[in-house]
Amino acid sequence: MRVISTERSQVLAARVSEKLGVPLAKTRFSRFPDGEIYLRCEDLDDETLIVSSITDNDMLVQTLLAIDAADGSRNTLVIPYLGYARQDRRFGPGEPISARAVARALSSGIERVIVVDVHDPAVLDYFGVPATGITIAPAIGGYIGDLHLREPLVLAPDEGAIGFASTVAAAGGWDCDFLQKTRLSGEEVRIAPKAVDVAGRVVVIVDDIISTGGTLATAASMLHEQGAASIHAACVHGVLASGAYMRLRTAGVSSVVSSDTYENASSFISAASTIATAIQEDVCR
Ligand code: R5P
Repeated sequence: MRVISTERSQVLAARVSEKLGVPLAKTRFSRFPDGEIYLRCEDLDDETLIVSSITDNDMLVQTLLAIDAADGSRNTLVIPYLGYARQDRRFGPGEPISARAVARALSSGIERVIVVDVHDPAVLDYFGVPATGITIAPAIGGYIGDLHLREPLVLAPDEGAIGFASTVAAAGGWDCDFLQKTRLSGEEVRIAPKAVDVAGRVVVIVDDIISTGGTLATAASMLHEQGAASIHAACVHGVLASGAYMRLRTAGVSSVVSSDTYENASSFISAASTIATAIQEDVCR
């Protein structure tokens, strides 16, 4: 068996390869003069684990090329971050279901797929091969525990994310709640935890993804007004688009951490153990 990584998943792929004791395939990435992507994998075996986050259009193409390079071997595709997953339905006439288009494209040449913290698990049904979702919520809980915060209150940004937040909070037996938006007038909304008073509390807002940071920044400003002692943010996929990190820090968020499903300088949490365990336990069968 060999592990192939695409360019934006190199750190995570190396960690997974170490955990599994499976060598990384030597892979060369370059571009043709016209911008087309070139990739060459060496030392391939009869079984391949392709670790590839779909962080952008280039990584989508690199993933397709990596699968094709491993043609003839038994391929498992691990998608730490599945881009396009949030366009998972037609919000308006004439729109594509982008998550379905991407899942269909990636289903050829692989036997099974494992996706980490996909925005909506229903997206897994769009793959044409057995698809399994796994979560690193316990690893995020473990990271928060290592920070030794004073009785943190774990908050989900909305009710839909409460399951994820509860799993994070279970790691330390911490309080958990979700943020509720109440419209006070035409222009004014109040965002506050549904049940718990944040005054004097150390708050950790957890989410599957931070993209523009808009959701969390608005919540953080309001939680400060309600007397939160400090606010931290932790997510799986730190996309951090359009200056999101600065937006959060200037909104009074003391720390912003994410995982290596989307590799960047805030990726302090690793999905490697969760992925390796899923492979070892053969979760797809
Ligand atoms: C929404 O349902 C997601 O869980 C995230 O809360 C959202 O996508 C974050 O986006 P942004 O960082 O741009 O507010």
